[in-house]
Amino acid sequence: MPVLPEKIPALIKAVAAVIEQNAEQVTKLDQAIGDGDHVTNLQRGLDALLSQADEIATLDWPAATQKIGMTLLSTMGGASGSLFGTLFISMSKAMTGKAEMTQAVFADIFSLGVEAVKKRGKAEAGEKTMLDVLIPVAEKIEQGAGFEQIAQTAVKGMEATKDMLATKGRASYLEEKSLGHIDAGARTSQLMICAMIDELQNA
Ligand SMILES: Nc1ncnc2c1ncn2[C@@H]1O[C@H](COP(=O)(O)OP(=O)(O)O)[C@@H](O)[C@H]1O
Ligand SMILES: [Mg+2]
Repeated sequence: MPVLPEKIPALIKAVAAVIEQNAEQVTKLDQAIGDGDHVTNLQRGLDALLSQADEIATLDWPAATQKIGMTLLSTMGGASGSLFGTLFISMSKAMTGKAEMTQAVFADIFSLGVEAVKKRGKAEAGEKTMLDVLIPVAEKIEQGAGFEQIAQTAVKGMEATKDMLATKGRASYLEEKSLGHIDAGARTSQLMICAMIDELQNA
């Protein structure tokens, strides 16, 4: 079933709500192995998206994803701002020429978006970043998995960052001391993916 951009405001609201509910926990995670600003960066981006949500809903998918990416890029700051921005801008480029948003189209554009994040961050799976959620989730979607399986994969990927050694981003400065903490960007990526799945399932 094709998903329409009309769903975007509800998805943004669901994402903003789950980040708000978990803000304190994520701040603690980023304070432990980063500089503690990840949630504030993300909330700045989400606030901007909330104020644009109705306008974004009138756009087609390439324009909507482009606008989301540009807004995140220009408002968030931090490593995560350019990475989440890159994700959506690359999805937009990959979407051009595709008539409607089907699961197969989404699988392709999301995978291309995640590839662009890997390039931008010069990072791979296993480096204790948001990519440890994004990469396995992209693979699950490619396999045609259902919502429940995708959500479980996101949670598993987030939890796995706890025992990883950080080799990219600020946490890498801590070397072995980064062990035992979940990565903040992996946690917010998982929370956002699970919130969007809940919203799509309950709509
Ligand atoms: N090179 C990278 N590749 C992929 N993700 C990264 C990279 N560097 C940082 N991240 C992600 O960004 C998150 C930190 O975001 P944020 O706190 O907003 O930015 P900053 O690290 O600049 O303070 C990390 O938890 C991690 O998930
Ligand atoms: Mg930070």
